[in-house]
Amino acid sequence: MKRRAFLRAAIGTMGGASIGCHANTGVSNASPPAPRPASVADSVAPTSRVDVEFALQAGEDELSLLAGPRTRVWRFSGQIQHGPQGALVQNDASYLGPTIRVEQGGRMRVHLKNALGEATIVHWHGLDVDAKSDGHPSYAIAAGGQYSYDFEVRNRAGTYWYHAHPDGRTGAQVYQGLAGLLIVSDAEERRLGLPDGDRELLCVLQDRTFDEGNQLLYTPSAMSGFLGEQVLVNGQLPRTLELPSGPHRLRILNGSNSRIYDLSWSDGSKLTVLGTDGGLLEVPFEREHLVLAPGQRLDVWADFGHGPGPDVWLESRPFEDPGTMMGMGMHGGMRRGRAVPVENGAPLRIQRFVARGNGRSARPPATLSTSVDRRSLETAKGVAAKTFPIGMRGMRWLLNDAPFELRGVAANERVKLGAVEDWQFVNPGGPMSMAHPIHVHGSQFRIMEREAGSGSTALRSGILDDGWQDTVLVLPGDRVRIRKRFANYPGLFLYHCHNLEHEDMGMMRNFLVETS
Ligand code: C2O
Ligand code: CU
Ligand code: CU
Repeated sequence: MKRRAFLRAAIGTMGGASIGCHANTGVSNASPPAPRPASVADSVAPTSRVDVEFALQAGEDELSLLAGPRTRVWRFSGQIQHGPQGALVQNDASYLGPTIRVEQGGRMRVHLKNALGEATIVHWHGLDVDAKSDGHPSYAIAAGGQYSYDFEVRNRAGTYWYHAHPDGRTGAQVYQGLAGLLIVSDAEERRLGLPDGDRELLCVLQDRTFDEGNQLLYTPSAMSGFLGEQVLVNGQLPRTLELPSGPHRLRILNGSNSRIYDLSWSDGSKLTVLGTDGGLLEVPFEREHLVLAPGQRLDVWADFGHGPGPDVWLESRPFEDPGTMMGMGMHGGMRRGRAVPVENGAPLRIQRFVARGNGRSARPPATLSTSVDRRSLETAKGVAAKTFPIGMRGMRWLLNDAPFELRGVAANERVKLGAVEDWQFVNPGGPMSMAHPIHVHGSQFRIMEREAGSGSTALRSGILDDGWQDTVLVLPGDRVRIRKRFANYPGLFLYHCHNLEHEDMGMMRNFLVETS
């Protein structure tokens, strides 16, 4: 029963080679799953059912991103071995890996092949999976190696993603292209009848810099990380997207290494939010602008032609870069390459939408999700929140007062399986302070409290602390308390800054979930 629902949901949304936030054309090729090749059957333990099984190769590739010479990228390519072909949707005009579509409760088996010249490993960002499937850098495989994942998709419907996660090289590998979307659906979401097919738009935002020969230039700085000159959408140059008027669903991922977006519609319409990192909110609500930090996702309702539109840009409003507030000029100096980066906080026009026709206007459902189990989030009485300072020593980024150690775990980083804990991230503020998007692996968490620092920034009113999250932006001077349940899997997991250069430079730690 469950399995049939999974197959049905995973079947056939073929991504067109459209440009910009691309639409799924909703082709439904309801053919039965291909028989599993014997070689694959031999290589896996025949213990459990599998709903989708595929090879995922990380390798070098080149494609035509700009006029002129092709651009060399690193890219994931996938091949279904078992299950519906529609579970992987590859867009050949993009450097992103295939969009993976799975159903909650489905079992995924992935055979990662490393065809790069260096070690890598894949992490499923936002999914709650066992420690061996989580892409911890200690499982990185050498060039030519293979790694198999086998896990159940427990997460609610939502927009998740996957990306390379080797120690010290995550920023560089994601920059070259090693990332993709992973979309989970479930029965509750299907009942809502949200816009799908060509009315579901995927928007992966990433900034890149190209050299004169159209090659990607990676020139990170120790402080701000990497900030590119050009925002790409779905691994391509954005071009005007023409669409029928009426409601659309936008799934927006900030897949940038270091850039924060403060999203708004150019015509002043409000953004209607349906969901966050961990899926749908209980009810939709409206905001004038919404901050999307690296690693975060937003689910947005856009009734093009009625509000916003009919000719409108998704843009990023200007804000004061929390990292340059003190005017220390600390973003210059260490950069090689030809250009001054487009600063964090520079106003950006991201994607233009032009709505055509007289499509009916519609409001989103008044109630979206009721599946939030609030009781699962009560902490035991008298247990204090753990405090994890954010900081730096010399030119090294720290978390919990220490740099990353591959297997290292401090006393306060030990957690009992099944526990609910409050963790607070404290960003000290002061002249060297920056905004840090802190990501915790494993289950989604709630943001319980945000004590605002004195440094005021235009960003603050656009920060969304509702819903389920796996990444939270901690502004300079802020103390943010999250609550998380460590329910399902023992083992070693990561929490870190999702400014990928900060992560690579040590702003990452382990936590160990222990069975008593
Ligand atoms: Cu998306 Cu540990 O990262
Ligand atoms: Cu993650
Ligand atoms: Cu950081």
